[in-house]
Amino acid sequence: MLANGTVSPVSVAKSNIIDGAALADSVKTDVSSRVAALKARGITPGLTVVLVGDDAASAVYVGSKERTCIELGMNGETIRRPANITQAELIEIVDRLNADPAVHGILVQMPLPKHLDSDAVVRRIRPDKDVDGFHPVNVGKLLIGERDGFAPCTPAGVLYMLQAHGVQTAGAHCVVIGRSNIVGKPMAALMVQPGVDSTVTICHSRTRDLARHTRDADILIAAVGRAEMVTRDMVKAGAVVIDVGMNRIPDATKKSGTRLVGDVAFGPVSEVASLITPVPGGVGKMTIAMLMTNTVRAAEQLSS
Ligand code: GUN
Repeated sequence: MLANGTVSPVSVAKSNIIDGAALADSVKTDVSSRVAALKARGITPGLTVVLVGDDAASAVYVGSKERTCIELGMNGETIRRPANITQAELIEIVDRLNADPAVHGILVQMPLPKHLDSDAVVRRIRPDKDVDGFHPVNVGKLLIGERDGFAPCTPAGVLYMLQAHGVQTAGAHCVVIGRSNIVGKPMAALMVQPGVDSTVTICHSRTRDLARHTRDADILIAAVGRAEMVTRDMVKAGAVVIDVGMNRIPDATKKSGTRLVGDVAFGPVSEVASLITPVPGGVGKMTIAMLMTNTVRAAEQLSS
């Protein structure tokens, strides 16, 4: 059993590039069989996503969350509301979903329009349906190592990738660049858990001499949102490099005029890393897969 409650995947192909799509498929296979077991008991796991406004990127993410639910035999519903929804109306939706026994997972897509209080919305979601792992109760459970809470999907996916590849985390120096509540801080909390046992350093925009820290990393996790900021000279030979970044940069050779890159300069760094995730095709695929894991586990726990 892995730290996030899913089973260990079968062995993974040997190459220094981590195949996020293949790992996500192995997670989804596990979720499908758990969905089938629940359905045999008359329970269909259900995720409801609330999407406010018309942000194009959010609409794409939400579409793929809904499609993946359906693909795995779960109910996937999206409630769409215009950007001028009031705080009270949004809270009313959350309350209704909290009370609905057919809804096991609730996710309010972020960012919300500025006039809405995101923290208050997240705190209103029942912690046992908070499959994003953003509610303070789940943040606390992650820190104290209580397994019935939910860890945020991206860091949970990163840990799954490391464990699936047999990366020795115990005693390793893990350096996380970025201190967001969604990735950096929960990533550090997962890596330091008993059973994972890394020594963790969190770096951020005020860190002095960043490269001094990154060069000492056995496992380097970049989650800053700055295109290709981790360069080859910042990485120790043989390090495992995980790139959580998703940055669009101009590229005149592409029809769209842009291209997606991570926080790591993939080409040069892949020459020194023992394992590395590409962008796209790395961590991104795992995030949705872990959301599915959290949703099926919510259904299991709510029905036990
Ligand atoms: N916006 C971008 N990523 C996420 C996520 O993981 N959860 C939610 N709720 N909103 C997001």
